[in-house]
Amino acid sequence: MRILSIETSCDETAIAIIECSGSKKRPEISVLSNLVSSQVKLHAKYGGVVPNLARREHERNLVPLLLQALDESRIMNHESRKKKTKPLHNSLFMIHNSILNKEPELLAQFEKHIMPLSAPAIDAIAVTYGPGLAPALWVGVNFARALAIFWKKPLTPVNHMEGHLYSPLIKSYEATPRKIEFPTLSLLVSGGHTELVLVKNFGKYEIIGETLDDAAGEAFDKVARLLGLGYPGGPAIAEEAAKMKNEKIKMKNESSAFIPTCRRDHGKSHDNAKFKIELPRPMLHSKDYNFSFSGLKTAVLYLVRDIKNPREVKKLRPAIAKEFQDAVVGVLVAKTIRAAVEYKTKTVLLGGGVAANNLLREKLSSELKKELPEVSCWLPESTVTGDNALMIAFAAYLAGKKKAPTSVGAEANLRLS
Ligand code: KG4
Ligand code: ZN
Repeated sequence: MRILSIETSCDETAIAIIECSGSKKRPEISVLSNLVSSQVKLHAKYGGVVPNLARREHERNLVPLLLQALDESRIMNHESRKKKTKPLHNSLFMIHNSILNKEPELLAQFEKHIMPLSAPAIDAIAVTYGPGLAPALWVGVNFARALAIFWKKPLTPVNHMEGHLYSPLIKSYEATPRKIEFPTLSLLVSGGHTELVLVKNFGKYEIIGETLDDAAGEAFDKVARLLGLGYPGGPAIAEEAAKMKNEKIKMKNESSAFIPTCRRDHGKSHDNAKFKIELPRPMLHSKDYNFSFSGLKTAVLYLVRDIKNPREVKKLRPAIAKEFQDAVVGVLVAKTIRAAVEYKTKTVLLGGGVAANNLLREKLSSELKKELPEVSCWLPESTVTGDNALMIAFAAYLAGKKKAPTSVGAEANLRLS
């Protein structure tokens, strides 16, 4: 089965074309094209994603990206390039008047570059329809609807989190596919979500815990901003925390050096006490599987405010970043293991942008090995941790359902259960 997929839920415009075969439990994938056009640099100036800028960029990027994907995948043969698709009059009418009428730039590119082509050799189109930023989602959804109508192909709407969930099963460049066994537990950590999901079967999910406020990635981004680090915050914090090894040595050698603070409840001043930077582990011992990261962010805010001197903050930044990262990872790993025990899961999967974090990857796999050696822990390859369309095509193959193009719409707050 050959699937063309489109992802525009946030600030990455992505298109992939894959071939899937085999049973769903042991799927084999061949990646014909996997393109991501990142808008990170554009949004970095604003310290976060600006929805309407994202939407405009998606509108500009989709057609060039699709043409590149078709080219790379070599699924448009010479003949089909010459042979124009003869669309039905009413599908053209729909594309102009009710599908791409709000995206004039995309419509113009569609008319110029897509309409002269005949339909490529694909079996289905998959598109992310939520959750995400509504203006960004709509561009991808409308583009997918127009293609499905124009090329007369079935359309499969995919939940973005379902893409992240199955991403650890994508082992595109290895011979042996990973086999999924139910029940599976998935820890999903991204910029907008932090969820523990019990996967009972393909398409059958139960969210057993989630964040009550900020998502883990969001906390990384906000703390990075507080510390004067760049956007996106996750990689910036991880990089800063990695400096800590050297810092420690320096601090030990300089007896007069300022030793990092700050338990706020200490009541001692910074310069005469032997402080350690200590941040809370929110909800670590709560009986449920929920998370909360906004208090952790506020603790960093108070810390920075107490230290006052920006030069001092900069000096202590690696120590703060490390403690913050340890706190987030510690809570995520401890609760995942507890849930794996309670729900007797056979596999633990990790997915989402924060799955790029090396400490999280190491801790999750090593702690699971120690505590539950019979449970397999699957991490996504680093190429599929961030938003991409490959995971959307793959999720469509495993769990997707075809729908009539006109009945598909963006759902910004879509949930897995
Ligand atoms: O899944 P994703 O690419 O987009 C959403 O669906 O939200 O996740 C983006 C999030 C951002 O908050 C980013 O800071 C975080 O993933 N992230 C990381 C790392 N790389 C990306 N967080 C921690 N450590 C990283 N290395
Ligand atoms: Zn994502």
